[in-house]
Amino acid sequence: MRVVVLGSAAGGGYPQWNCRCRVCALAWSGDTRVAVRTQSSIAATADGEHWLLINASPDLRQQIIDTPAVAPAAMADVSSRHSPLRAVLLTNGDVDHVAGLLTLRERQPLTLHATGEVLQVLADNPIFGVLDPTLVARRAARLDETFEPVPGLSVTLFAVPGKVPLYLEGESVDVGSEGEMTVGVRLEARGRTAHYIPGCAAVTERLRERIAGTDLLLFDGTVFEDDEMRQAGVGEKTGRRMGHLPIAGSDGSLLALADADVGRRIYIHINNTNPILIEDSPERRIVEEAGWEVARDGMELRP
Ligand code: MLT
Ligand code: MN
Ligand code: ZN
Repeated sequence: MRVVVLGSAAGGGYPQWNCRCRVCALAWSGDTRVAVRTQSSIAATADGEHWLLINASPDLRQQIIDTPAVAPAAMADVSSRHSPLRAVLLTNGDVDHVAGLLTLRERQPLTLHATGEVLQVLADNPIFGVLDPTLVARRAARLDETFEPVPGLSVTLFAVPGKVPLYLEGESVDVGSEGEMTVGVRLEARGRTAHYIPGCAAVTERLRERIAGTDLLLFDGTVFEDDEMRQAGVGEKTGRRMGHLPIAGSDGSLLALADADVGRRIYIHINNTNPILIEDSPERRIVEEAGWEVARDGMELRP
């Protein structure tokens, strides 16, 4: 199995267009201790030829330009249109995971997989009709049922604690509920496994059991501290309120997963306020000393 990190940042990317927080300021000034990152997406393949895009980022076009493996290949026949991206899978309906669907609109056959509830969010929004239904089939994936969206790559979606997309939040929001609105992905090819969980409000015992024994864990690294956005002066929202448990703290992911039985562990979906983005920061040292890596765009993994 090959997995490529197309976008390692959370919604907004790094730096975010309107942000001059202390972490973004480093990127705007070209500081060499930080790397620019695009918004949340990975791609995976079992045969190197047929790729599954997991989450369609607003930065998808740039990600394809930067990643030869998923760019159109020269065709032996007369056709000039091609893409190694044969299927798309969504882990939720957030803007950073669905806006890139609009980039995929140029009459390219694809299969779009998501849970029934996430597909309903798309169906409720007519703009996604730009994906011609005669070419782009939408398939509802049931939780805990395995399917093969591209040859040789088995995929299973499972519920993780989460919430509805920000733009669907009502007066009160149920953060941490488990259902079809926020899922993690188990990938398997030839006995090797990877788990991709870009949004997760809490580490439950069920989740720990699920990831036990995996060769690769790509996990929600949105914020280091729960109130980091407030500290940075960019907003009042906590990580938890956004459906993302923090890395640090007594119930953060660092402690909750400290003794998890996983091979490589990598934080992904990193918010622009998160100091782990800075290579020589104390927070970066803390996660690295605990055995974690910090995802970068273009990172290629072979679990
Ligand atoms: C999230 O991961 O919490 C969302 O991407 C936030 C957003 O929609 O901007
Ligand atoms: Mn997001
Ligand atoms: Zn920022």
